[in-house]
Amino acid sequence: MSMEWGVRMRVTIFGSSHGPEVGARISGIPAGTPLDLEQIQADLDRRRPVGRRLATRRQEEDRLVIDSGIVQGRSDGGEIRAHVANTDVQRGPYDRLRYTPRPGHADYPARIRYGEEADLSGGGIFSGRMTVGLVIAGSIARQLLGPRGIQVAGFTQSIGGVEATVPESWSIPELRARRDLHEVGTPDPAVAEAMAEAIGAARREGDSLGGIVEVRATGLPVGLGEPFFDSIESVVAHAGFSVPAVKGVEFGAGFRAARMRGSEHNDPFHWVGDRVETRTNHSGGILGGLATGMPLRVRFAVKPTSSIARPQATVDLRDHTDTTVTVTGRHDPCIVPRAVVALESVTAMALADLALRGGFLP
Ligand SMILES: Cc1cc2nc3c(=O)[nH]c(=O)nc-3n(C[C@H](O)[C@H](O)[C@H](O)COP(=O)(O)O)c2cc1C
Repeated sequence: MSMEWGVRMRVTIFGSSHGPEVGARISGIPAGTPLDLEQIQADLDRRRPVGRRLATRRQEEDRLVIDSGIVQGRSDGGEIRAHVANTDVQRGPYDRLRYTPRPGHADYPARIRYGEEADLSGGGIFSGRMTVGLVIAGSIARQLLGPRGIQVAGFTQSIGGVEATVPESWSIPELRARRDLHEVGTPDPAVAEAMAEAIGAARREGDSLGGIVEVRATGLPVGLGEPFFDSIESVVAHAGFSVPAVKGVEFGAGFRAARMRGSEHNDPFHWVGDRVETRTNHSGGILGGLATGMPLRVRFAVKPTSSIARPQATVDLRDHTDTTVTVTGRHDPCIVPRAVVALESVTAMALADLALRGGFLP
């Protein structure tokens, strides 16, 4: 099992869905870095379920507790340990799933790999609750990057095929302000309600929806990134795939690039005062694994929630028969709105680690 990530900013996440707590241990944050605990709490609050029609009915308060490493609002240079308690735990529905793995969830390979002892209740370490630790670490990463002029924001780009239009010219504060106006987390007011209705309709049909989260970052110093193996793409993708339910990632034009010509895809350079910019940004702000100084654009495909309220074909691991399973318990009919802050967080972690490695931060 690998619960650790990062080179200079080291993040270890711990806990499980129905254990006593979830959280993170973070090392490599320079001593004296100002860290606003209210900001970390505000980021955790963005991860919590929103309106009843859109999200799980599991209600966790997610009160941040700092165990070490932050003294009077500053990093003390040692390991930061932070957690939140799990309080709303209902094991019953999961006891029934012990030998009949849910299609689309981690139950089957995890039971085979980790055996009878593995606590998969509530999804165990495969639960969306593990993103609490990522959000704590990501909030700290954003607070490291902010004073260096690097800003990061994620938003809902699409849900169930309903697509947002989000101009590249919108600044990060503008994106954030617009995104936070609607519970689905999209900055495009024209489609927000249609996304919410699509989620509600899927839930009523005992089904679920997927979608796309986009993360943008501005102010990246030209040359940030550690090619070969730790290009910006590699490190962001590595961190992004640690968020459960993420099944795809693309940068800039992404898979569309495969259908474009060089004359179309190349982003022409020009001077803007004493800065080199590009007129388009098909590269998503990355060339050769290094930042170009243009906004980073990365999109994550989030699959539809696997735990749906319909009978599904599965197996009984005790008697080797085929059977059906009906998943009960409390589940998100669409993970996307709650994955926004998690994906923003892991992108910030990746950029902070690369910035520390490249000497772009003190
Ligand atoms: C914020 C968040 C909330 C999630 N909520 C649920 C949920 O309520 N029900 C569920 O079946 N999966 C949920 N997931 C996804 C599962 O954890 C994930 O699908 C599972 O671990 C299998 O991993 P994979 O989808 O990456 O292959 C959630 C994921 C995130 C990021």
